[in-house]
Amino acid sequence: MSADAKILNAVTTISVEGDVAIVTLNSPPVNALSAPVREGLTLGINAALADSAVKSVVLICDGRTFIAGADITEFGKAPVGPSLQDVQNTIENASKPVVAAIHGTALGGGLEVALTCHYRVAVPSAKCGLPEVNLGLLPGAGGTQRLPRIVGAAKALEMMTTGQHVPAKACLAMGLVDELAEEGKLRETAVAFAKKIVAEGRPLKRVRDLEDKVLADRANPGLFAEFRKANARKFRGFMAPESNIKCIEAAVNLPFDEGMAVERKLFMELMTGSQSAAQRYVFFAERQAAKIPDIGDDVAILPVKKVGVIGAGTMGGGISMNFLSAGYAVTIVETQQAALDRGIATIRKNYENTAKKGRLTQADVETRMGLLTGTLALEDLADCDLIIEAVFENMEIKKDVFGRLDKIAKAGAILASNTSYLDVNEIASATTRPESVIGLHFFSPANVMRLLEIVRGAATSKEVIATSMQIGKKIGKVAVLVGVCPGFVGNRILSQRQREAQKLVMEGAMPWDIDRVLFDFGFPMGPFAMSDLAGLDIGWSKENSKSSTIREVLCEMDRRGQKSGSGYYDYDENRNAIPSPVVEKIILDFAAQQGINRRDISDEEILERCVYPMINEGAKILEEGMAIRASDVDIVWLNGYGWPLYRGGPMFYGDLIGLPKVLEKMKTFQAQMGEEFKPSALLERLVAEGKSFKDL
Ligand code: 3HC
Ligand code: NAI
Repeated sequence: MSADAKILNAVTTISVEGDVAIVTLNSPPVNALSAPVREGLTLGINAALADSAVKSVVLICDGRTFIAGADITEFGKAPVGPSLQDVQNTIENASKPVVAAIHGTALGGGLEVALTCHYRVAVPSAKCGLPEVNLGLLPGAGGTQRLPRIVGAAKALEMMTTGQHVPAKACLAMGLVDELAEEGKLRETAVAFAKKIVAEGRPLKRVRDLEDKVLADRANPGLFAEFRKANARKFRGFMAPESNIKCIEAAVNLPFDEGMAVERKLFMELMTGSQSAAQRYVFFAERQAAKIPDIGDDVAILPVKKVGVIGAGTMGGGISMNFLSAGYAVTIVETQQAALDRGIATIRKNYENTAKKGRLTQADVETRMGLLTGTLALEDLADCDLIIEAVFENMEIKKDVFGRLDKIAKAGAILASNTSYLDVNEIASATTRPESVIGLHFFSPANVMRLLEIVRGAATSKEVIATSMQIGKKIGKVAVLVGVCPGFVGNRILSQRQREAQKLVMEGAMPWDIDRVLFDFGFPMGPFAMSDLAGLDIGWSKENSKSSTIREVLCEMDRRGQKSGSGYYDYDENRNAIPSPVVEKIILDFAAQQGINRRDISDEEILERCVYPMINEGAKILEEGMAIRASDVDIVWLNGYGWPLYRGGPMFYGDLIGLPKVLEKMKTFQAQMGEEFKPSALLERLVAEGKSFKDL
């Protein structure tokens, strides 16, 4: 705050430099448009207008960023203070030019405020965006009508349906920003710019009055149909992208005020719907997952520079890529030269494929590969700060590796296992330092999937946990802390769905019926299409195969999934899955052999049988303390298993449909089919108390 600044309210000051008034907002952490910020903006602009010595106004923010949007915590609550629209009218209709000075991020309502300013100046590191779509919304403060008037419909479509944060330089190129300031010199540049506007007698540029871009777009009516077609797959199931598109169509075809009415109507529809509620919940859930109740900021973070990975197979390779991409030196260990060479070649091939798509330069590829060392000697991991084991899923092998590692790794090194199901405490018992042992469970493909389950062993130290959480963030993962139990959180819940899917196939459904129901629910694919993709032969061997399950029979027939050309499905030359009459016959024969009277199974039953046991298992996980909060379970399923974002995760979904309904169905299934449907005690208790998971 400059010395002569006058305090307007708790978050706003005004100062005057020459004939330029500077209104400064300071509302940490992100200057969101809370009631005090809206009030401060009104007070600031009005004070500047009332001061006859002032000829122009600069709107600037203190702290890490310009206004990052509406205050999401206010959504759904009774409105207080001036409305955002009133604030914007005050700015846009001001009789003196108002210049927005942008650093950090001008997002959502923040950019919409900037769009009511007459000019915008930004530092090169600043970014602008309308990310409402990611909250299941659309920009509800005129952004849908103003943005296309500056940048045109095509760019507006892209920005608003992806929510991307566009760098200031690109904003300048598309006219969204009028001038770039040197980094660190935003205030003086904006003040000079405001003075220049006045000196040159430039008009008060009101974005709402601009017409040339929308008139040009009006002459291209195919634009919207093409955009919808090109993105149909990406937008499937989501309501918000289509509503955003409709608003831009309105901006192109209707007068401003009519377009605003369309925006308002569609905004309210989204705001009161369950999709946006789910997506807003996920926004906070993701941030919540990073907070561990018994681990405060005082817990020391261990330095991690060198990383070791044991096993260069499917997972070891992908895990290594995460670290190489983030700039860590990685040493990868194998038992055989051929396996090592194969693993390293796969890493290179993956990077080169990305480079071919233009998302990486060849120099980047070489930099990353240059950080990688391959070896056959475990001893070469002696100077690593973090070592991640990704060898075969076998307790004896893992214990052997950790026992040897214990003698090699330097004191204080983090020793992690990527095991999917095994007991991390037993693995730790093979060492003399169980406090250094932790599970770091990546998901396949490990260089792509965002989820990282961090498995806290009985003895794992707080430092090792805090460091692992931070490393997760550094390599771009969403890290969730879970406890030791078979399959941890994600796979434990998955087992429920897998069991029911297999049973349903015996009882009367076909794999493609189940896949269709789960696909329509919003999963990217159903469990049988997933098996075909992953390979039916994971964990299968010819010697031990006894035709005792459908999967064994299919593997014996060499129907091992997409890689062998068929699995649960047949595949055409374009890899389209086609229901297989062969598989249908196998299933019918199998059921007949077992004396099962097949019946018609409704889509509703398929969904309830697959999903309710997952919710119930999530409740058991919470009851046992294997996850800290219900929202952590949701974050696991959203980021590791393709649970549809707009349904918020299994626990959110349970709350949405109502826990009494879930409980009642579980009891009915239990009576009909047995103890695998036994309701969790927590579920029973919540229903008895009239509560839901969100109340925990
Ligand atoms: N409202 C309320 N709180 C917010 C917020 C918002 N719009 N944006 C961020 N926060 C909070 C976060 O919850 C977090 O709180 P915590 O420290 O208690 O966990 C804190 O601010 C810091 O956020 P991050 O940890 O995400 O900080 P980063 O520096 O990593 O990221 C950011 C900053 C890029 C601004 C990121 O927070 C973000 O993307 N925020 C959301 C932006 C957004 O979606 N804006 C549109 C809102 S909807 C809208 O404007 C509707 C309008 O059209 C009417
Ligand atoms: P994989 O079979 O592809 O790779 C394992 C590699 O470890 C092989 O290359 C093998 O040569 C090597 N190896 C075996 N013993 C070794 C030793 N003593 N020292 C050095 N290297 C050794 O297996 P994958 O799929 O990569 O799985 C590895 C681990 O990751 C397992 O614990 C698995 O459960 C887990 N996991 C697997 C996922 C998947 O989808 N494949 C997902 C998440 C975890």
